[in-house]
Amino acid sequence: MPAAHSTVHFNSPDEAFETSLRPGQFGDFTGQTKVLERLSLCVEAAKARGDALDHILLCGPPGLGKTTIAFILGAAMGVNVKATSGPILTKPADLAGMLTGLERGDILFIDEIHRMQKSVEEYLYPAMEDFAIDIVLDQGPNARSVRLHLPPFTLVGATTRSGLLSAPMRSRFGITNRLDYYTRDELARIVSRAAGILGVAIEPAGADEIASRSRGTPRIANNLLRWVRDYAQIKAGNVITRRVADAALALLEVDRSGLDEMDKRILSAIVEKFGGGPVGVGTLAISVGEEPGTLEEVYEPYLIQQGFLARTPQGRVATEAAYRLLGIPVPKRAEGGKA
Ligand SMILES: Nc1ncnc2c1ncn2[C@@H]1O[C@H](COP(=O)(O)OP(=O)(O)OP(=O)(O)O)[C@@H](O)[C@H]1O
Ligand SMILES: [Mg+2]
Repeated sequence: MPAAHSTVHFNSPDEAFETSLRPGQFGDFTGQTKVLERLSLCVEAAKARGDALDHILLCGPPGLGKTTIAFILGAAMGVNVKATSGPILTKPADLAGMLTGLERGDILFIDEIHRMQKSVEEYLYPAMEDFAIDIVLDQGPNARSVRLHLPPFTLVGATTRSGLLSAPMRSRFGITNRLDYYTRDELARIVSRAAGILGVAIEPAGADEIASRSRGTPRIANNLLRWVRDYAQIKAGNVITRRVADAALALLEVDRSGLDEMDKRILSAIVEKFGGGPVGVGTLAISVGEEPGTLEEVYEPYLIQQGFLARTPQGRVATEAAYRLLGIPVPKRAEGGKA
């Protein structure tokens, strides 16, 4: 698999680059229409009442816009967004520090909220419900705690693994918003907008070529664009046409299907090790060296959406399209996508 290394890193964040391309308002954000419609309604209602927004949970695979939406909500409400992440908050005091710094209506954004320590999570509950926390004063026999009231704030939680969120945590959120993969058209629009910001000319067909190889993910689209821009600048007079995009991405060995290395590893495991399936998710996970939950929540949704994989009560099954993708003849029993 020669494309392995190049494709994988295209879904890892580069903070400075991402910030420069991040849409700052609802109007600049493409796709996820239902989620955005709901959220802008919440914003309008909260503003009209003069309240803080209700707590909001954003779920979905990496690079689809969770962090972006959290900051858009802050801008729309005209409040500060304080960002942190589950693994950084190692003890309740870390969280207390963030909470006491909030002003009325502010947004506390907790990324990877499923990775919070249990003790920190439990400390967060009264803050979310009653806008109050208990602070321990003194140590040892003199230890006592005082209840501290916080201004009303909004917790925006993000997670790639909603299955790992505890039930008490989930139940404390008003709305859950699930982000889905973007269509090729939406990605093409995102690429064209980003090209404008980066100051490179792009033809619609060039944007479409990049979009089609971006695994439904804006972050990947933007990262591929960055490479194609460099290529265009040096080799093609600073204009991205379909031919230029295609040549640039071929040089990078980015797969035409837009699948990444793990996607292909999953499909070839099902086909080559398990006769096309059905194979249970636990067994499949071990054979590709990934956690079952990550397989289910991060990788499978895209493969299912693209028609390469099917979930059956007996387990995962590779479809005919998967065989064709891997260049392996479709066995008789795999026809129709079922074993
Ligand atoms: N709808 C969109 N329109 C335009 N650009 C977008 C959109 N969604 C995401 N992006 C771009 O993709 C990049 C990644 O988005 P973001 O950081 O919000 O993803 P994420 O869901 O928080 O990912 P992770 O799970 O890895 O934290 C951003 O820099 C932004 O420029
Ligand atoms: Mg993020």
